[in-house]
This record gives sequence, C-alpha cells and structure tokens, in this order.
Amino acid sequence: MHCERIPSSLVDKVMSATEAASLFHTGMTIGMSGFTRAGDAKAIPRALAERAKTEALRFTVVTGASLGNDSDGLMAEAGLLERRLPFQVDNVLRKKINAGEVMFIDQHLSETVEQLRAGMPGKIDIAVIEAAAITAEGIIPTMSVGNSASFVEQAPQVIIELNTSVPLALAGLHDIYLPASRPARQPIPLTDPAQRIGTRAIPIDPSRIAAIVITDTPDSPSSVLPPDAETNAIAGHVIAFLEGEVVAGRMGPELAPLQAGIGTIANAVLHGLTRSSFRNLTMFSEVLQDSAIALLDSGQLAFASASSITLSSAMNVRFMRDLDRYRSRIVLRPQEISNHPELVRRLGLIALNTALEFDIYGNVNSTHVGGTHMMNGIGGSGDFARNAQVSIFVTKSIARGGDISSVVPMVSHVDHTEHDVDVLVTEYGLADLRGLAPRERAPLIIEHCVHPDYRPALREYFSRACATTGGQTPHLLSEALSWHINYAEHKTMRTVLSPA
Ligand code: COA
Repeated sequence: MHCERIPSSLVDKVMSATEAASLFHTGMTIGMSGFTRAGDAKAIPRALAERAKTEALRFTVVTGASLGNDSDGLMAEAGLLERRLPFQVDNVLRKKINAGEVMFIDQHLSETVEQLRAGMPGKIDIAVIEAAAITAEGIIPTMSVGNSASFVEQAPQVIIELNTSVPLALAGLHDIYLPASRPARQPIPLTDPAQRIGTRAIPIDPSRIAAIVITDTPDSPSSVLPPDAETNAIAGHVIAFLEGEVVAGRMGPELAPLQAGIGTIANAVLHGLTRSSFRNLTMFSEVLQDSAIALLDSGQLAFASASSITLSSAMNVRFMRDLDRYRSRIVLRPQEISNHPELVRRLGLIALNTALEFDIYGNVNSTHVGGTHMMNGIGGSGDFARNAQVSIFVTKSIARGGDISSVVPMVSHVDHTEHDVDVLVTEYGLADLRGLAPRERAPLIIEHCVHPDYRPALREYFSRACATTGGQTPHLLSEALSWHINYAEHKTMRTVLSPA
C-alpha cells in the first residue's frame, strides 16, 4: 500500500484522519504546513473541526502562511482557534479575528520560527505536515516548505499527511536549510538565488512520526483575478521605472532578483514583465504565482527561488505536466530563508508589494481596513520592504467604486514606514521617493499617484499643513484621519472634497 511513497517500516503508522485527530488535546500548540494555500495540511483540520462538534477544543495554530480548502474557516467556525499566527486570508477567520474571538498574531513571516525557538507563543506539541513521500532522506514536502522543517525539528510528535494527488516527481524541488542556534550562528551561505545549500528532504527520526494519514485532496487553486486596465497601467509604470534604473547604470539589464507579493495586483504587475525586453531575470521571493510560470515560459526568467507555488487550476495542470522542465529552474526553501533579511539585503532585491493605502509622505498600510480591521496580515512584505535594494509598493488609486482613495493624508495604520518605502505606484503614475525629504515627497505623490477626484483635496491639505503647522512632516492632526472617519460614517471619502 503506497509503497512507493513510504517505507514498509512505517506502514503500521497509517491511520484515518479521525484516529489521528484523537492525538490532540485542548491547549496544544500545533504547527501545520501550508503557505499561500499551497502544501497545506488538509485532512487533519477537517477531522479536528468535526471532533469539535462534540467536544470543547481550543488550540494555538501556527502555519507558514495561509491555508486553503477552507481549513481556517472550518477551524474558526468550530471554535478551535484560540490563537492563530502568522498570516491568513480566510473570510470566516477574518470575521472572528475582527470580532475579537480569535487572537491573531500578525507577524513578519521570517520571524515566526525565531519566536518559536524562544518558546513564543509556546513549544510546538504536534506538527502536521503534508508530504509527497517519506524516504530515507526524510519528508519530501509538496508545493510549499513554509515553516514545516522547523515544526518537524521542534515537535515531539509529527503527523504526516501523505498526499497521493501530487506527483512523486516533486522530489528535488526543495532545499531545506535551517540556521544554527544563536549566538554561534554563521552567515547563511547563499550568494545567488539559484544556489542550493541544504537537503532535498526534511530530516526526521521516524520514531517521532505519530501517524500517517493518506489524502488525495489537491491544493486550492489560486483566486487571483486576471490583469485589467489599471493593473496593466501599474505594470507599465513599474517597467518604465526599471528600464530607467538600467539606463542610469544602477542595475544591469538582468535587473536585481525580484520579489513579488501575494494577490491580484502584484501578480498582474509581474505578469506585465512578459511585455518587457528584460531577459535573464531571477526571482528571490516567498511565493510564485501564475505570473512567475509565465515568465519562465517566456524565457525571460532564468531562475525562481521561493517558499511556495500557488497556481490557478489551468496553470497547475501545465506545471505538473512539465515538472521536469521547471524543476531545474525553481527551488522551494523554508520561509525563514526565502524571506531572510540577511539574504534580501545581500542579494539587493527589487521588492514589489501591495498597499491597501499609503499617505502623502510614503507610509504604507497593507493590513488594516479603516485602521482597525484586519485584512490578511503583513506576511512577508515587511521582511522584504525593509531590506530590499528598491522597495516598491503598488495599489489602485481608488477602492470600493471610488468611495475610498488609496492615497490619504495620513494612513490609518502603519506597516511600512516612510523609511522602508522607495517607490509608490498607482495606475496614474509612479513616485520615486529616494533621496527626497517628506516635504518634497508629498507633491510628487499627489501629482503622480492620486486619482484626479481626490487630488485637489490632498493638494489643499498639504498646503494648509505646511502653512499652519509646519514641521519636518506637516500635518493637520485634527483632520489627518478625517477621510477614514468620513468613510466609516458616510461610506465615502468623497465628502471631504473641498471646492476645486
Ligand atoms: N481600504 C479598504 N479596502 C481596500 C482598500 C482601502 N484603501 N484598498 C483595497 N481594498 C480592498 C479591495 O476593495 C478588495 O476588497 P474585496 O476583496 O472586498 O473586493 C481587497 O482590499 C483586496 O484588494 P485587491 O485590489 O483585490 O488587491 P490584492 O488582491 O492585490 O490584495 C492586499 C491587496 C493588500 C490585501 C494583499 O496584497 C495583502 O494582503 N498584502 C499584505 C501581505 C503581503 O504583502 N504579502 C506579500 C509579501 S511577499
């Protein structure tokens, strides 16, 4: 039975998800595989949610990033989640977080395992890891590595979800390297995105394998929307900017390694590079979306390093069919490595992430709607933005049919401070903030990035703030958040518009 995926010595550990779910006790800290809905544990979350129908169960659940297959929603609905970290994208869970029913720790994705090593928020009691196979080398992960290697290293008990829907040919895609403990830690020996520095499998002592559960549930397909007129315009501005960097001699024609964030906009912008003349590109990112595969196919992307691959259904079919062709040009690493500040700085990345909103001085909010309500989380955007050679944030200039301006006087929550943000882009244009003081940035952002409907009000805000309050970063504190207050009260920011 499944002899090609597990050694015969482990066959007696195979059990149903329901049986394996009985190994969990309330109060445990669980480490689950899964990153951007790829390579997530699928059977155990369902079995736990089922068990919670007849029993009070509460856990701390730590993952790489988001889970697919509605797992977060099912666990949240069942009341299983006491504490959840470090990232999520689920509607049901989002509501529970914003209702204060689930304590969500919104964490830089490179930092989760460092915190776990220090026992925060608790030692991992059980790891649940999706695998393509267990070999003499260890666990062969599936479409993500995330924090799985660290969960396996720390957990006294490991449950493997052996997913028979993924091809065994995934073996060889992964590169497992974990830094040594501090203070004796050495530099991470990686100087090129294509370098392999670890092992093909996650090492494990088989005696710690508590159960093996067989599944055949595929990853949830990516839900990103195709490029549209605005995202195409944003891509055009980014490409023109990068071409300018080459002309100015700051980068070679192969640019610097690219990082692109999750979501529709970042995917569309990266997809736009297929229209550019750049060749020999590399990626050093946390997630590869359809756009990365399109760039590999166009021959423009030479190599891609990440922690997960999350694809649409159609692209997934293509990827699995041509796996042999892709495998030599892709590597999946632990997220501690894919997002490591040391490597982001050393490799000199071009980081491309998405803002919900930014302000006239360049502070970026990527997480909190209206300053209070969690959207998804900071993810890896902070790991990259702080340390990249060039940190670019993109967003559409308006949201919710134009009732929200994505550029505001002051952001209602700050994820990326003005010090971490180099370039801002909307469909209207691009503001290169490098080398500029706040008073120089504001006019540039207002004239290049703001939707025309909101431009006059921001011009007026800035000029009154300079004339009355002054300072390094002029603001009218009594008005700075009035746009958000107007939206909360009247469902539009348009009411703040002053006469032209
Ligand atoms: N205020 C309130 N809501 C806003 C908004 C604003 N200023 N700007 C956008 N939104 C809403 C949109 O209306 C949309 O809502 P809907 O799903 O109900 O229609 C939602 O935010 C997503 O926006 P969308 O334009 O579809 O962008 P996206 O899919 O590219 O996602 C982020 C944008 C910011 C939510 C997403 O990129 C994210 O979670 N980023 C943080 C984590 C991160 O960057 N990780 C990557 C590191 S590698």
